[in-house]
Amino acid sequence: MCGIVGYIGERQVKPVLLNCLYRLEYRGYDSCGIAVLEGDLAVYKDAVRVKVLDETLPQLIGGRAGIGHTRWATHGEPSQVNAHPHCDCTGKIAVVHNGVISNFQKLRRQLASEGHNFISETDTEVIPHLIEKYYEGDLEKAVAAALREVEGSYAIVVLRADEPKLVVARKDSPLIIAIGDRENFVASDVPAILDYTSRVIYLEDDDIGVVTSDNVKVSQHGVAVARKEHKISWSVKDAQKAGYEHFMLKEIHEQPKVIRDTIGGYISATEPIASLAMAGDTGLEDMLILACGTSYHAALVGKYMMEELLRVAVRTELASEFSYCGQTSAGSRVLVITQSGETADALKAIKKLKEEGCRVIVITNVVGSTASRIADQIVYTRAGPEISVAATKSFVAQLMALYWLALPYAKIDIRRLDSLVMGLRQLPGKVQRVLDNEAVISEYAQQLSKYENVFFIGRGVNFPVALEGALKLKEISYIHAEGYAAGELKHGPFALLGSDTPVVAIVAQDNTYEAMLTNIKEVKARRSPVIALVEEGNEEVKEVADSVITVPQVDVIFSPVVNTVVLQLLAYYAAEQRGCPIDFPRNLAKSVTVE
Ligand code: AGP
Repeated sequence: MCGIVGYIGERQVKPVLLNCLYRLEYRGYDSCGIAVLEGDLAVYKDAVRVKVLDETLPQLIGGRAGIGHTRWATHGEPSQVNAHPHCDCTGKIAVVHNGVISNFQKLRRQLASEGHNFISETDTEVIPHLIEKYYEGDLEKAVAAALREVEGSYAIVVLRADEPKLVVARKDSPLIIAIGDRENFVASDVPAILDYTSRVIYLEDDDIGVVTSDNVKVSQHGVAVARKEHKISWSVKDAQKAGYEHFMLKEIHEQPKVIRDTIGGYISATEPIASLAMAGDTGLEDMLILACGTSYHAALVGKYMMEELLRVAVRTELASEFSYCGQTSAGSRVLVITQSGETADALKAIKKLKEEGCRVIVITNVVGSTASRIADQIVYTRAGPEISVAATKSFVAQLMALYWLALPYAKIDIRRLDSLVMGLRQLPGKVQRVLDNEAVISEYAQQLSKYENVFFIGRGVNFPVALEGALKLKEISYIHAEGYAAGELKHGPFALLGSDTPVVAIVAQDNTYEAMLTNIKEVKARRSPVIALVEEGNEEVKEVADSVITVPQVDVIFSPVVNTVVLQLLAYYAAEQRGCPIDFPRNLAKSVTVE
């Protein structure tokens, strides 16, 4: 979604802003722009990629302070005039903004009646005009006065002609200040600034900051506040492709390491499983898990896994629906899963849960993210920065966190527990074996890439894997894909089956096996080609499916991990075959910061 950068210091501002914008491209955008302070303000923007902006900018742009933005259109189509930065009537004040100003129409009418001239369709444009209205020689005060009128969410950076400083503010949209040596940066997220510094301050809601090249001052409602500096452990290398064609492929291949790192962060080689239990806890009672998208699929795997191992009832809800259906009781414990920690729907759900007196445990991959800061308890995954819009390694890391949360409370005999812990430790090797089978999987992907509709089916703990396989395929290859519980096909989707609609069947060696075999036969009877995922050594499924992809044997509880990696590779190679922009699929954004 939209990205923000800002710089003030001794370097030439143009290359710094462009470099930071390149680093934010993964968030998904349709337009971009910069404003630089060269005495006066100069604004350059258009509905183009950063590379095109870079190539068309005048060579000789001076200045040591500036702001930049990648826009993901919400109010008004992608166009030059709707791109950020936006300015006031005088052209002296420039603003970049992430979020949504919900009362912008009212503000716009009022400002227009006072003589302000609007040129874009955006909600953002009211902000520079409000600042202009309240400006009496003090930019910080004018920003504070303007924001008092504004409803909705925002992270903003404001630059004014002849004033060598950046004024920043946030509410319900992330913003960081990054500290350098006689230079400072502002960004909506960490990868933007990793080339320059790893020292970061996370702004809180209602903070207003004034950033100069050698000073950072933060206040709330006019009172100075101290914000802790954090050291980022991710390196620039973590956020680069490392020789892979796409971030997605690199991230798929990182999964053995991600599993090792995430599990390693929770347990040492010698630690007995019992000591994993959270201090003071006697068990996990009935549970609610909330999430969106791929994280929701992790939540569903968590449900099946916890219900089996813990024998508790686990409810899952889409965070985006929770406002309309969520019933909780005060004091209950709720798990929220969000890779980015910035998804607006997840944050809204967390706030609602906290108002209702629930205890919120957040599983997130981003240290310092908004979710991590408002949670009662945090379980970090260690996937490293995930750049590709399609979530891959973060999903597998979320599953590791869920196994870790569940296993200490499992109501199973000690032999099964020991074997699960051993199975968990062996997972990196098993995933590596799936990756070693990449060439075979890519051949099947090439077959799939020729179709326009594909079904994915699974049962039990592999039903969410079918959903995830379909989501991956549709988002990056644009092939229409549906994930179904295998038993549900005959309740409607059978009408769509035929020789032009292949079915990917995930067959697990558990109590769902016989039913899956029957489902494959039913699908074959409707002439749909079937690609089945089966455990190594299984000969029976080969007799009924058209093709078989084998996966290493694991306890069925861990089968979602190996099966999902196969489906990630299927999606990747199908998208590659179709020539799709894999890391930045159309219309999508990495972290969805609007409701
Ligand atoms: C999946 O590939 C997507 N990137 C998307 O569904 C994502 O999982 C969803 O937007 C939730 O994001 P979060 O985990 O950062 O909250």
